[in-house]
Amino acid sequence: MNSPLRHPIAPELLARFAKIVGDKYAVTDQAALEPQLIEGRGLYHGRTPMMLRPGNVNEVAAILKLATETGTPLVPQGGNTGLVGGQIPHDGEIIVSTTRLDKIREVDATSNTMTVESGVVLAKIQEAAAAADRLFPLSLGAEGSCTIGGNLSTNAGGTSAVAYGITRDLVIGLEVALPDGRIWNGLSKLKKDNTGYDLKNLFVGAEGTLGIITAATLKLFPRPRAVETAFAGIPSPRAALGLLNLARERAGGSVTSFELISRGVLDMALRHAHGVRDPLANVHPWYVLMELSSQSREGLRATLEDVLSSAAERSFVTDATIAASLDQAKAFWHLRFMLTESQKPEGGSIKHDISVPVAAVADFIADATKVCEAMVPGCRVVPFGHLGDGNIHFNVSQPIGADTAGFLAGWGAMNAEVDKVVMKYHGSFSAEHGIGKLKRETLKKVKDPVALEMMRAFKRTLDPKNILNPGKML
Ligand code: FAD
Ligand code: MLT
Ligand code: ZN
Repeated sequence: MNSPLRHPIAPELLARFAKIVGDKYAVTDQAALEPQLIEGRGLYHGRTPMMLRPGNVNEVAAILKLATETGTPLVPQGGNTGLVGGQIPHDGEIIVSTTRLDKIREVDATSNTMTVESGVVLAKIQEAAAAADRLFPLSLGAEGSCTIGGNLSTNAGGTSAVAYGITRDLVIGLEVALPDGRIWNGLSKLKKDNTGYDLKNLFVGAEGTLGIITAATLKLFPRPRAVETAFAGIPSPRAALGLLNLARERAGGSVTSFELISRGVLDMALRHAHGVRDPLANVHPWYVLMELSSQSREGLRATLEDVLSSAAERSFVTDATIAASLDQAKAFWHLRFMLTESQKPEGGSIKHDISVPVAAVADFIADATKVCEAMVPGCRVVPFGHLGDGNIHFNVSQPIGADTAGFLAGWGAMNAEVDKVVMKYHGSFSAEHGIGKLKRETLKKVKDPVALEMMRAFKRTLDPKNILNPGKML
């Protein structure tokens, strides 16, 4: 039986919230709500009496105002693809879904900006940019369902951050509804605007704890005229670092993705994902998926071939294939993006989303692997991730045939030991997925106390009643 809710909300109050959006958009049917209560990794199953689906910024602001007046807790939710439980109402909070805030307000190809509402799905933004012959470079496995509001709120990284930066680097202005019901119109196309604190950066990465982002002005880039994609078999993470250096030396800023994949996790995708095949004839212990992009139509393939052959001479690469068509490049990326889902059928998986200085990645992987294998003999260490950013998803699958619950009971202990290795290399225990509920206790332990106090002060100032995403991050 469920324990009593920490935040029971009286029916009369629920009716007042429903009135703001209209009954049609105040969902209370528990079967309809169920998908919004489950987090993708199955770590959390939340509870809520209601999900509100506001259709414009004024409705969002009215919901927040009423919530502050009545002390009612809210959880903002976009595409529900977050990986740290930040979007889940853990204890009866009302969900505020942004999925009806789905308009692309403007694409300005001359200023290279695009203004969108926060519930627009990332893939739609990429498509709209392409339709204007521009690029919005943020790309990640969940792009078909995550929203830009979620990307901004988690400051998502993804596979093109190595060249274009993380979401924080891709936003110029924001519109945000504040907990007291005021609307901050910070939408701006200005690259240069030195008029005080950079407030937008307070909301980027705030995981819905300071305000609800309702719209954003994003940066656009020229659409590359040539893109070349290679899948390379390599002997070790250290060799991958050699390849990365070489690629940067020869291709400079053209290196737009550089992803490391262990054979273990590739095998899982080959076993469980649909429509995938091993790009190389032989088995290699590690792989790099590398993409080069250029504004020039000519010469990029020759550059990539030169990088790969020089890398082979130096034993950084054992074998490699360059996509012969757009479809083949898409197949490489499909395989890469299926790595997350493909770990699930293999039983319990303990996750670490870490970053270390790029130069330390190989040593980190070696040390952390030893630590995990000593803790759980037979566990399967299957790292992959954004090597170009020093960000590795250092995931550990249970030993074959082991008891899943027993293995997962060691999640915290394994995280603690891996985090010690992360600290040894001056890294971060949360590179791109955020804090949410999953990493809140770790944040308290490892974050600089002065930084934590400033974060709490911002929270108190903007949300004195603690109505926005209580129990998350702080
Ligand atoms: P949600 O999951 O709905 O919410 C995430 C957080 O943001 C919550 O705290 C929520 O309260 C808050 N929030 C959502 N919308 C708003 C808003 N408008 N205003 C204020 N707060 C809001 N992440 C990476 O960084 N890089 C990756 O490569 C990557 N790959 C992924 C691949 C897969 C297959 C999956 C499932 C996830 C991946 N992620 C990755 C996780 C990533 O955080 C999310 O995919 C995405 O950024 C979240 O967007 P969302 O709309 O689903 O947000
Ligand atoms: C990825 O890079 O694929 C994601 O961040 C998701 C994951 O860590 O599984
Ligand atoms: Zn990632």
